[in-house]
Amino acid sequence: MIKAAPSILAADILHLEDEVRRMERAKADWLHIDVMDGNFVPNISYGPAIVKALKRITSLYLDCHLMVDEGVRYVKTFADAGADGITLHLEAHKDLRAAIKAINDLGLRAGVSIKPQTPVETLLPYLDDVGLILLMSVEPGFGGQKMASDAPARMVEIKRLCNERGKTPILEVDGGINMLNAAEIVKSGANALVMGTALFTSKDAEGDIAALHSL
Ligand code: DX5
Ligand code: ZN
Repeated sequence: MIKAAPSILAADILHLEDEVRRMERAKADWLHIDVMDGNFVPNISYGPAIVKALKRITSLYLDCHLMVDEGVRYVKTFADAGADGITLHLEAHKDLRAAIKAINDLGLRAGVSIKPQTPVETLLPYLDDVGLILLMSVEPGFGGQKMASDAPARMVEIKRLCNERGKTPILEVDGGINMLNAAEIVKSGANALVMGTALFTSKDAEGDIAALHSL
């Protein structure tokens, strides 16, 4: 089944617990947590304290997306805070292999993410070691952008690379996903959809997630 991962970047941060409960009621599968360092991306969001606070109030899987230069430095901190999966950026690491190993060694799901301009083939050396691939369908840094038109084709390619090697990581897509383009991106191979704006502004998040689950 498709995983629906609301990004709390689009939540009302002053009422975060209510927002999480709303997504729980809507039967979200994961919570997506966008960590931004003001270096790798031109925005600053929040860090491990939010993960720790969320862990106290929810049993939803905490899907932590680190848009952080050398995010490997914070893997242990996020693991201790309660992250269930940690996704690092390929472009942000000198030794990505070691960074992925650090996540795997802690027993969490290791993810690798690529930005819209990064060739999909750059993922190849890591396919044996990751449990998740996160395709950015917008330039990372901000919610509320439009999905890049080549995102579905890029996802098809990623799926093909995985299939050829017998690998079955979760294929997640992030940025500008909504109820109008979800079916297309799922058809292209994605099985986890990050949705910030679309779900948090929806009048019927439960209906939307039910529709995603039936794709
Ligand atoms: C962008 C973040 C996304 C973002 C998605 O840098 O990684 O997760 O919050 O937001 P929407 O769904 O509004 O594009
Ligand atoms: Zn994200």
